[in-house]
Amino acid sequence: MHSGNICIGGFMCSGKTSVGRELSRRLGWEFLDTDVVIEQRAGMPVPRIFAELGEPVFRRFEFEVVSEAVGGSNRVVSLGGGALVNTELRNRVLANACLVILDVRAETVLCRAERQKGARPLLDSGTVHSLMAKRTSAYAACHLRVATDEFPVNAVADRILANIPLTGTLTGTDTIRAAAETLCVPA
Ligand code: S3P
Repeated sequence: MHSGNICIGGFMCSGKTSVGRELSRRLGWEFLDTDVVIEQRAGMPVPRIFAELGEPVFRRFEFEVVSEAVGGSNRVVSLGGGALVNTELRNRVLANACLVILDVRAETVLCRAERQKGARPLLDSGTVHSLMAKRTSAYAACHLRVATDEFPVNAVADRILANIPLTGTLTGTDTIRAAAETLCVPA
């Protein structure tokens, strides 16, 4: 087993938490959902942080929590959809983890979001396409990209584990990055 981390990024409702949890179960690695850690630290749920403290405060918590999360090892970390917008934070993630982006179509996002109404302050059916377009560059750099629309959590996890090196000699982030560069699987 290598001693790196796996980070799961991508747009809201791409399945980051479910896939991250499944990977951590299969690998026996610690699982962290950074939104949950932020909620614990702020003492309130994400929608209230946005409403009462404002998005910039949420982003400051997010910067701190994600930086700490990738500072450890053998962790599966599910990121909030906006975490990779911050270039400095994105670079920290890329340097300290194998970053897997889960791709999802806007229609799938809206369909999945129906089940958790009110949980995502930035998710609005009228603006989902434009927010997704704005996020393209944030999700462009990664070690592995996996399409999720038609696939159940187990199949996405299978695909990730089949494409990232988990055995052998990977001990440092340079090695993980070098190995991962050969792995950019088109969605
Ligand atoms: C956000 C995504 C959310 C959460 C917050 C902001 C975003 O996480 O961090 O509501 O900016 O895309 P999920 O992607 O887990 O929904």
